[in-house]
Amino acid sequence: MNYLRNAWTQAAWANEIQPGQLLARTLLDEPLVLFRDAQGRPQALHDRCPHRFAPLSMGRLCDAGAAVQCPYHGLRFDGSGACVHNPHGDGRIPAAAKVRSHPLVERHGALWIWMGDAALADPALIPDFGFNDPEHWAVGTGTMVVDAPYELEIDNILDLSHIEFMHPLFASEAVRRAEVRCEHEGDTVWCKRFMADDREVPDFLRQAFQVPEGAIDRWLHVRWQAPAVMALWAGGVAHGRPPEQGIVSQQAHCFTPVSASQTLYFYSISFPKLMGPLAQALADESVQALRAPFEHEDKPIVEAVGRRMAGASLFELKPVLLAGDAAAVRARRLLQAAIDKEHA
Ligand code: FES
Ligand SMILES: [Fe+2]
Repeated sequence: MNYLRNAWTQAAWANEIQPGQLLARTLLDEPLVLFRDAQGRPQALHDRCPHRFAPLSMGRLCDAGAAVQCPYHGLRFDGSGACVHNPHGDGRIPAAAKVRSHPLVERHGALWIWMGDAALADPALIPDFGFNDPEHWAVGTGTMVVDAPYELEIDNILDLSHIEFMHPLFASEAVRRAEVRCEHEGDTVWCKRFMADDREVPDFLRQAFQVPEGAIDRWLHVRWQAPAVMALWAGGVAHGRPPEQGIVSQQAHCFTPVSASQTLYFYSISFPKLMGPLAQALADESVQALRAPFEHEDKPIVEAVGRRMAGASLFELKPVLLAGDAAAVRARRLLQAAIDKEHA
């Protein structure tokens, strides 16, 4: 499987690794163990001891996180993957006693991993999810395993025309006649949907947009960055008012391949802490509300599509192209070009 490796992708939510804990997680077909070192910095090691290949994640952290001790014969490795302790013989450390490590950076409430050439891993390239910074935002997060290739999730989020058919709760006549624009700046693709004069808005959306009655102008803007890192802004304002006066909810939809046929889905929704003590309750409630359609509507169809495609790539199956496909096709082509460049 050809993955894009020289890119930051989400490995976990920051609160998934607490001091003293080891988290086993497979990404891009590689078993990893994630933990926090003695300084609290997140670390990612290949989850296999170089002695007899035991999973390090079955071991334990020692010296307050300074090293992971292998469960089998007790070699210890620090966050760089260097062996720092050999309890056997004269204690000399064999030159080959080293574990591969990957850059792992905590930013915007998430842990971002770089699984390619570590020399190229510039933290300035981490996609901007400032709306998930716990300092200013109340954030609700979720994680889901999807048994489908991660590329199908790019298509799913960038082409929200499926709302009409898959998500009856969010559908309306205005959603059907949405005006859709695809924009492309550098390595970033945008899909912007505008749904003007929506008169069938469900109550919970009315509440969210604080427009108790009358028509609403709504929009859904999705930003894609490679490999499958997406942000979504869902806004609404009383019909005819300027969008700047509207209320916008901000969501992350980040997908990291576990393997060619399985994907980890990290999603979030955030509200400004300025809203007061209710913000966190609202974020938790909203992320729970989102989980149902993600799990019961998106996941089954994306997995079924994956089974029907049976390992073939999108373009080799010569898909019929519809009006709403521009952004997903653009993103797919940029992703493929980046992968080709990396493997050239
Ligand atoms: S397998 Fe790790 S020390 Fe032996
Ligand atoms: Fe969906």
